[in-house]
Amino acid sequence: MEDKIGYGVVGLGIGRAHADGVLRSERGKLVAVCDIDPVRLGKFKSEHPDVEAYADFSDLLRDERIKIVSICVPSGIHAKLTVEALEAGKHVLVEKPIDITVDAAMKIEEARVRTGLKVGVIFQNRFNACMEPVRKAIDEGRLGRLILGTFAVKWYRDQKYYDAGGWRGTWELDGGGSLMNQAIHTVDIMQWLMGEVDTVTSYAGIHNHNIETEDLTASIIKFKSGAVATFVSTTCAYPGISTDIQLYGTGGSIEIDGDKLKTWKLVDGDELEEEEMLDLYGSGGNPPGDTKVRGHALMVQDMIDAVYFNREPLVSPREAIKSVAIVNAIYESAHTGKPVKPKKV
Ligand SMILES: NC(=O)c1ccc[n+]([C@@H]2O[C@H](COP(=O)([O-])OP(=O)(O)OC[C@H]3O[C@@H](n4cnc5c(N)ncnc54)[C@H](O)[C@@H]3O)[C@@H](O)[C@H]2O)c1
Repeated sequence: MEDKIGYGVVGLGIGRAHADGVLRSERGKLVAVCDIDPVRLGKFKSEHPDVEAYADFSDLLRDERIKIVSICVPSGIHAKLTVEALEAGKHVLVEKPIDITVDAAMKIEEARVRTGLKVGVIFQNRFNACMEPVRKAIDEGRLGRLILGTFAVKWYRDQKYYDAGGWRGTWELDGGGSLMNQAIHTVDIMQWLMGEVDTVTSYAGIHNHNIETEDLTASIIKFKSGAVATFVSTTCAYPGISTDIQLYGTGGSIEIDGDKLKTWKLVDGDELEEEEMLDLYGSGGNPPGDTKVRGHALMVQDMIDAVYFNREPLVSPREAIKSVAIVNAIYESAHTGKPVKPKKV
């Protein structure tokens, strides 16, 4: 087996979290980073003199020491760079959203199948500690038949955030606003927990920013199962409140505030269990005694292990495309004023 897996990162915004993840990993070696911004590239190089710094992505792709590339550039060019990397023989970990349209994202899936290489997609919030017991309660049928979900992503981004980089809040490169960029994590969690979406009926508007896309959406989501959800996203909620996830089924109610379990009331449970669950998962982060790495570091480590042990990464392109289909259905419904079915993936 290889000693350490050579790793490259393109895009040094959130890409720095990928680079940190590689530096902290057991089996990965950070070989190179790449950015077209000389200031960001120079800063990284001065902090990590042993890591190669490329200003051109094609030079990084020619570096034979690199086996995996993290794609951390603006969302609307994820598919382009991912396909180039796959065709150059690299495995890829790509940031969310996988791309901004289903058609572009499917090009990644096609290239993955064609090349036989591995592609993982970042959705780190799925792996917050408190999500584990929630997913388990659903899998074991303890929540019964899901009836209602309420999801609200009430974040704040100032105008400076949108002005930086020039791509945020644009249809071409961000593919949307508060929903495509920020709340897509929660769209992913919604479909992961509640199942396939049948229709969405939505509003989207610009309320407090000078941008092209939206800073507020509100939707009613109907699932194939018959369950219903409301979904709200905004970047106007000063100073950034939290993400609420609330699930109500015939077997009980579970509520999550950010990464903290808030309510655990199951018909087949008791007060002792409820107290224990809130003790373990009510404060956010890892429960006492759990030393598992989470967030970006977990997903980077998983990608390296997927290549090292020849297994699939945690989140596949097909899984990640589902949230893009839902987001675009929401935008279409907001535009037409009609219920829309997400594109089949
Ligand atoms: N998982 C998360 O929590 C999370 C958080 C933030 C951002 N993201 C995602 O990461 C991606 C990047 O977001 P960001 O906030 O880091 O943006 P950013 O603008 O801060 O960074 C992107 C970087 O990519 C560089 N770049 C652009 N085109 C390039 C090219 N062709 N070759 C090399 N470098 C290039 C830019 O110069 C810039 O430094 C987006 O898709 C965003 O949705 C995910």
